[in-house]
Amino acid sequence: MKIRNLIDFNDMSLEEWEELRALAFRIKKAPAEYRDVCKGRIMATLFYEPSTRTQMSFQTAMMRLGGKIIGFSDPGSSSVAKGETLRDTVKVVSGYADVVVIRHPVEGAAYASSLYSHCPVINAGDGGHLHPTQTLTDLMTIHELKGKTEGLTVGCCGDLLNGRTVHSLLRALMRFKGNKFVLISTPELKLPTFVTNELLANGCEIRECSTLEECIGELDVLYMTRIQRERFKSPEDYAKQSGIYRLTSDKMELAKADLAVLHPLPKVDEIAYEVDDDPRCVYFEQAENGMFIRMALLARLVGAERTGRCPAYPLPQKAFCHNARCITNHEKYLPELTKTVDGENRCCYCDSKIK
Ligand code: NCD
Repeated sequence: MKIRNLIDFNDMSLEEWEELRALAFRIKKAPAEYRDVCKGRIMATLFYEPSTRTQMSFQTAMMRLGGKIIGFSDPGSSSVAKGETLRDTVKVVSGYADVVVIRHPVEGAAYASSLYSHCPVINAGDGGHLHPTQTLTDLMTIHELKGKTEGLTVGCCGDLLNGRTVHSLLRALMRFKGNKFVLISTPELKLPTFVTNELLANGCEIRECSTLEECIGELDVLYMTRIQRERFKSPEDYAKQSGIYRLTSDKMELAKADLAVLHPLPKVDEIAYEVDDDPRCVYFEQAENGMFIRMALLARLVGAERTGRCPAYPLPQKAFCHNARCITNHEKYLPELTKTVDGENRCCYCDSKIK
């Protein structure tokens, strides 16, 4: 694999993805054959935000490959509580470990970490921005069920604004031919423009719906999501959005016989309990795939070389990204790094348009 870090699924070529997927399926078939692949290697998990599946699936993945793990899941118990910068934490920990897995509440934190790390960095979720290893899990599951990840009608329902899993998944699926997207949300929780603009620039067919009933019958894949309570400004704003979408057995009756219902989990109230037993609901299998695809990713990335000293970047003269949730507005030493995507000047950390 050519890539060194996984910050965004789109860092990867489709050939690299296919190779990784094939490896994950081989591991799933015969996990014991891979038990020494990461022997003597250490993975650090820096979890600045709560996680069950992502953290545990990374940890079990590394342990099943014969590696060891260090890290924290409560920044309050680490030097972060003493005011250490992200840059310092990453410089130190990446000196100890062979791969760093980071989850952070601020957008662009994983990209920022990759600038200072001596070893590969994996983004395990950066605020409401991206979550590429969930996308690997989702694509693996879709491929397992449908035999392909193209020519599908995929519906995403719930918090499309703050749901980083949706952003990553849609930006990945747009790269495969013939996928159509149905976006089911309230007007307040529509996809952010950085995702919509990219889908449109790639010529994707998008339909927006306000109810599940009006579109569930057309879908091959339904991706349900939780309303992301922790990203709302106030409990009142959250209360206005919660409980609007609920997948029930009545709605499942309107769906195709081979619909696949995915969910990154955790789910709250968006799926009725009785629906869990419908064989079309595959989120628990999806969560298990998360371990196999992360095993494949770790097996490929920990072989990457260490870089030694990280480059010294010039300090920015002023804030250059207007997104208040961007890491550059929280950690002030980060260099001004921008890129051009579809003719737009964007922040390299959080993908927001630079004015
Ligand atoms: C998701 C996340 O953290 O973004 N969960 C996960 O990683 N499996 C989805 C969520 O929290 O709703």
